[in-house]
Amino acid sequence: MKITGDLVFFITGGASGLGEATVREIHAKGAKVAVADFNEERLALLEKELKERIFTIKCDVTKEEQVKNAIDKTVEKFGTIHAALACAGIATVSVTLSSRGSLDIGLFKSTTEINVYGSVYVAKYAAQVMSKNKPINDKGEKGVIMFVSSVAAEEGQRGQVAYSSTKGAINGIVLPMARDLGRYGIRVLSIAPGIFMTPLSHAMPENVMKRLNADTAVNRSGTPDEFAHFVTACIENTYLTGVTLRIDGGIKFSNL
Ligand SMILES: NC(=O)c1ccc[n+]([C@@H]2O[C@H](COP(=O)([O-])OP(=O)(O)OC[C@H]3O[C@@H](n4cnc5c(N)ncnc54)[C@H](O)[C@@H]3O)[C@@H](O)[C@H]2O)c1
Repeated sequence: MKITGDLVFFITGGASGLGEATVREIHAKGAKVAVADFNEERLALLEKELKERIFTIKCDVTKEEQVKNAIDKTVEKFGTIHAALACAGIATVSVTLSSRGSLDIGLFKSTTEINVYGSVYVAKYAAQVMSKNKPINDKGEKGVIMFVSSVAAEEGQRGQVAYSSTKGAINGIVLPMARDLGRYGIRVLSIAPGIFMTPLSHAMPENVMKRLNADTAVNRSGTPDEFAHFVTACIENTYLTGVTLRIDGGIKFSNL
C-alpha cells in the first residue's frame, strides 16, 4: 500500500517515542493521521505543530469502549482507516523472586492490559472499518494492521517476565489474525524493536543502556526515525503479512 495523501492512519501511543516518530513520518508523506493516546498535553502540542491532516483523541487503550470511540471518531473525521499501528505500550520490571519480594501480579496484569488487550482492541475495531474499504490497489489491499512487539519476546532479561510475555502474546497473535483477515484484503504484522532512544528506554540506568548498546553489532541504540522508516517500508510492501520482523541493530543480549 503506497503511502499517499489518500490514506488514513490510526496510531495509538503516537504522542511519544516510536509512535510519535511514525506519526511525523507518515504525516510528512501527506497522509491523514489520527493519534490516540492518553497524554492529552502532548497530543495538543502535536496537533498545534502539524496543523493539517491530523486528528488527536484522548484514549486509554485498556478501555475497549474508548478504543472503539477513537476509531469511530477517526472515521467520522477522515472517512475510513487504511492502516493502524498499535504502538501504545509500557515496559515494566518485576523479578520472579528476590530478597525484596516476588513477582508483582498487579503489574503483570496492568502490563498485559496495555500491551496485549490495548493492541487487540485496536486490531478488532480497525479491521471492521478496513474490511468495508474498496481495494486500493491491484493486490486487493484494503488495510494493514501493525503491532509493536519487542526482541524481549524472545530474549527477555531478568525482571521482564511480564513485559516479555506481553510481547510473546503479540507474536502469537500475528499469524492467526493474518489468516483471519487475509480474505478481507487486510495484512497483519508486527515489528519487534531492539533498543531505541525514547522516553521508555531513557528510564533505564545509564550503565544498563551502555551494556545493552554493547550487545548490538553497531554499539548504539536505534533512533525513532529508523523505526518509523521501517514501519513505512512494511506498510508499502504488499506481500508482508503474518510475521514479526526484528529491527534491532543485530542485538543479541548477554545475560545481564
Ligand atoms: N523504546 C524501545 O527501546 C522499545 C523496544 C522494544 C519495544 N518497544 C515498544 O514500542 C512501543 C512504544 O514504545 P516507546 O519507546 O515509543 O514508548 P514511549 O513511552 O515513548 O511512548 C508510549 C506512548 O504510549 C502511550 N500510552 C501508554 N499507555 C497508554 C494507554 N493505556 N492508553 C493510551 N496510550 C498509552 C504513552 O502516553 C506514550 O505516548 C511500546 O509498545 C514498547 O513496548 C519499545
